[in-house]
Amino acid sequence: MPDILSTETLNYLNSLPREENPLLLEMEDYARENYIPILDRNSATLLEILVATSKAKTVLEIGTAIGYSTIRIASVLPDDGKIYTIEKSTDMIPLAERNFDSSGYSKKIILLKGDAIRKLLRLNITFDIIFLDADKQDYLRLLEFSLHLLKKGGLYITDNLLWQGYTSSVEEPPVKYARSTVQIREFNNIFLILNH
Ligand SMILES: C[S@@+](CC[C@H](N)C(=O)[O-])C[C@H]1O[C@@H](n2cnc3c(N)ncnc32)[C@H](O)[C@@H]1O
Repeated sequence: MPDILSTETLNYLNSLPREENPLLLEMEDYARENYIPILDRNSATLLEILVATSKAKTVLEIGTAIGYSTIRIASVLPDDGKIYTIEKSTDMIPLAERNFDSSGYSKKIILLKGDAIRKLLRLNITFDIIFLDADKQDYLRLLEFSLHLLKKGGLYITDNLLWQGYTSSVEEPPVKYARSTVQIREFNNIFLILNH
């Protein structure tokens, strides 16, 4: 697998002192043990910084899973801030709900259950930040259906643009990643020119 960060750099970043929230640690362990792809700690920290420094009050997240990134975002929103998060998996929804209850941030979190395209069509509010972290084959359609919900001057953030290094690798990705690599490359070609 190609590396985005060297193991040495990653070990260094992970060794830096930080405040440890027991619920988040438990969620990180649960995700690792159950192969649930959640944001890595450092990306989640960057997301928190972006939310906090932009003074966002409203965030839309597409792809909740067990609610790890949702809770991290909610933790830096102001008291009257809200994060809407969309999840379609009936396996993930109860886990996310339980974690939201335990987090102490449930008043700031609105979980929309079902397919994101359907939910996006029904939303009639706009957001300071949109965070896209769903199935890669849906990225372009989800971008198309959500972009109009972003406030002017808002931030559109997506995970996986480098797709573990496969999008930039000159070598063929393993079969398992072949289709998603093509899809993310297509997405990147469109997404990056939207900023101009
Ligand atoms: C990578 S995980 C999200 C991880 C989460 N953002 C975190 O970092 O804690 C992607 C999740 O998006 C959900 N998902 C994918 N496509 C979706 C869609 N079209 N509508 C709703 N949920 C979707 C999947 O079920 C999965 O739980």
